Amino acid sequence: MPNILVTGGAGYIGSHTVHQLLKRGYAVTVLDDLSTGFRDAVAEGHLHICSLFDTEQVRQLLVRQKIDAVIHFASFIAVGESTKEPEKYFTNNVSGSIALFTAMSQAGVDKLVFSSTAAVYGNPVSTPIPETAAIQPVNAYGETKVMVERVLAWLDQLRGLRSVKLRYFNACGANPAGGLSERHVPETHLIPLMLKAVVTGQPMTIFGTDYPTPDGTCIRDYIHVDDLAKAHIVAIEHLLAGGASEAFNVGTGSGCSVREVLAAVEKVTGQPVPHSFGPRREGDPAELVADSTKLRTQLGWTPEFTDLEGIVASAWPSEQLRWA
Ligand SMILES: NC(=O)c1ccc[n+]([C@@H]2O[C@H](COP(=O)([O-])OP(=O)(O)OC[C@H]3O[C@@H](n4cnc5c(N)ncnc54)[C@H](O)[C@@H]3O)[C@@H](O)[C@H]2O)c1
Repeated sequence: MPNILVTGGAGYIGSHTVHQLLKRGYAVTVLDDLSTGFRDAVAEGHLHICSLFDTEQVRQLLVRQKIDAVIHFASFIAVGESTKEPEKYFTNNVSGSIALFTAMSQAGVDKLVFSSTAAVYGNPVSTPIPETAAIQPVNAYGETKVMVERVLAWLDQLRGLRSVKLRYFNACGANPAGGLSERHVPETHLIPLMLKAVVTGQPMTIFGTDYPTPDGTCIRDYIHVDDLAKAHIVAIEHLLAGGASEAFNVGTGSGCSVREVLAAVEKVTGQPVPHSFGPRREGDPAELVADSTKLRTQLGWTPEFTDLEGIVASAWPSEQLRWA
């Protein structure tokens, strides 16, 4: 089986993807500096604690482990923080990625799957959003991902580095059977925040009830982390089979409002979610839903988690332990 290097494999989506790769028999090497990841999220013997910026160590790892392809998750991910500390984001997400690509070029590794984001589309003019929609990020985080996508287009042309850019919508859920969970610090994602409110009794805030949506709250496309992980598997298979560079949206294709998420959390937990209402947050578009037809038709990917209650139920056991 091919040897895959997973950067950021000790993080939330990376650890779920490593689990899926190992289940399918891939040989997996994880590179992570544990800046936001967790040692115990990676199965024994696979983790190499190393920064993307240590080009020589990364090059040696690529050569020593005979790496065939890289899945690149490592980055900082908090949109709000990226608006306060843009230098931190451009340095880690853009310069860190370029350092990795340099090591890959030196080691002769020419296949990469890159974690991009729906944030590259900014405030889209319509939804569902196809990959051909205008690229116009509205925050520094989204801009870092656009910049890396552009670097990758040049490296394909000039170095023959083939890449799949996966633009994720709202990652959520967990794989309890794999002992895996979401553990962002601070937590900014809606489902864990609602589950935290249930466990602690401390109210969470719903930002904006006057959006032009049927119930006035924001609509998002919630994609289960295991379905995201499987998108990486089909992307790797595409590249290993000689496929060309592509960008794909990864979402279910249907949207849920914040009030619908609240109802699903209350149904799964059997408890009310303590909450209050606040004003809209700047930069939150009313509706973000993926058109993921391209990934479905070209790579044969289909999400398994299509109902919100199933997604919430997968996260509930680990979130109970986390906030208790
Ligand atoms: N979580 C989401 O909803 C979401 C949505 C869209 C895109 N993404 C992208 O998916 C990827 C993974 O997100 P996540 O939620 O798993 O984040 P995470 O913070 O849980 O994982 C990121 C991992 O990268 C590691 N890392 C960061 N900088 C590093 C560096 N310089 N060298 C080595 N390791 C480094 C961290 O230690 C961590 O383990 C990111 O690229 C993110 O931008 C996430």
